[in-house]
Amino acid sequence: MTQPANSSGVKRIGVLTGGGDCPGLNAVIRAVTKDAIFHGIEVLGIEDGFLGLIEDRIRPLHLDNVSNILTDGGTILGSSNKANPQKFAVGKNDDGSVRWRDMTDVCMTHLEVHGIEALVVIGGDGTMSAAKPFADRGIKCIGVPKTIDNDLYGTDITFGFSTAVSVATEALDRVHSTAASHHRVMVVEVMGRNAGWIALHAGVASGSDVILLPEIPFDLDTVCNFCVQRSQRGKRFTIICCSEGAKPKGGEQIIERVDPTSPDPIRLGGIGKWLSNQIEDKTEIESRYVVLGHVQRGGTPCAGDRVLATQFGHHAMELLKQGKYNRLAVMQGTQLGDVEITAAADKQRLVPLDHPLIAAARSVYTCFGD
Ligand code: F6P
Repeated sequence: MTQPANSSGVKRIGVLTGGGDCPGLNAVIRAVTKDAIFHGIEVLGIEDGFLGLIEDRIRPLHLDNVSNILTDGGTILGSSNKANPQKFAVGKNDDGSVRWRDMTDVCMTHLEVHGIEALVVIGGDGTMSAAKPFADRGIKCIGVPKTIDNDLYGTDITFGFSTAVSVATEALDRVHSTAASHHRVMVVEVMGRNAGWIALHAGVASGSDVILLPEIPFDLDTVCNFCVQRSQRGKRFTIICCSEGAKPKGGEQIIERVDPTSPDPIRLGGIGKWLSNQIEDKTEIESRYVVLGHVQRGGTPCAGDRVLATQFGHHAMELLKQGKYNRLAVMQGTQLGDVEITAAADKQRLVPLDHPLIAAARSVYTCFGD
């Protein structure tokens, strides 16, 4: 087989996975590594995202390393959602505040020592922002968009999202039967940060009776009345698919923890419990809650995510070989494309209030609590 041209002249690339993990990362690593090796480009794997670049934990990736990983969850390289080289926590000051250091020069030295000319960074907005200083210093950067949240600006879809939706949908399907056995309201809290994509899709797919999104603050009385009316109509259950970022009208999101060493310190969580308790108190209908949490991020990617991740990995290498640097591979509609690598920085792609799926859900009497 003849090898298509690598007009970039790049001989050695580094690949890393940054931010929270998601299903499909290994599929991208596999696609990038195989494509690169096919074109005579050496690949070095950087461990634990930018942390491995700071600490010089960098190792060669060969075909053997990426064989048989397509279906594996997680990332063979490891990931970190704290290590931003520009603002890296190195300890604490006397007053207890976090001491930050700019590690960009340290990372540049490691890139030079290993002869890495280009970086394929697989991550979300934080990872793309963290890549910018390297792009500015002449490292050829290509981004691949990942996150179960599907909230990355510039792309219509990120890999990992479909798997998370499938996991959440199965969980919602499962609570139906137990809820019906006991005449209960079941609140299932799903991830997604400030975006309701997972809740919207899993809620529609499971036929949830109520879907609560961060984008649509809900009225507690409306949700309670909806549960009561269902009960009065003889319905034995009400299933509520609740985004972790959902909040009552006039209220705030519930923060589960704050990690001051993380560039994105807020972790949401707790609305499912709060809502379940409120419903039971106000309606006297027995209510339970389930927090799906990291179950949505673990395990094997679904078929769609394996395909998407492979397409993204290949497309990232195409961009590199064509000399299109500092770009983020994206999917717009059904077309692969690319945008400026920092196009997604400090932005979130939220669910638009006029999204057709919201209208479709409303048409089957789904309550959004508004
Ligand atoms: O961004 C992905 C995500 O899973 C969010 O849905 C969730 O809010 C957050 O990460 C959880 O972060 P951590 O893994 O740090 O708990």
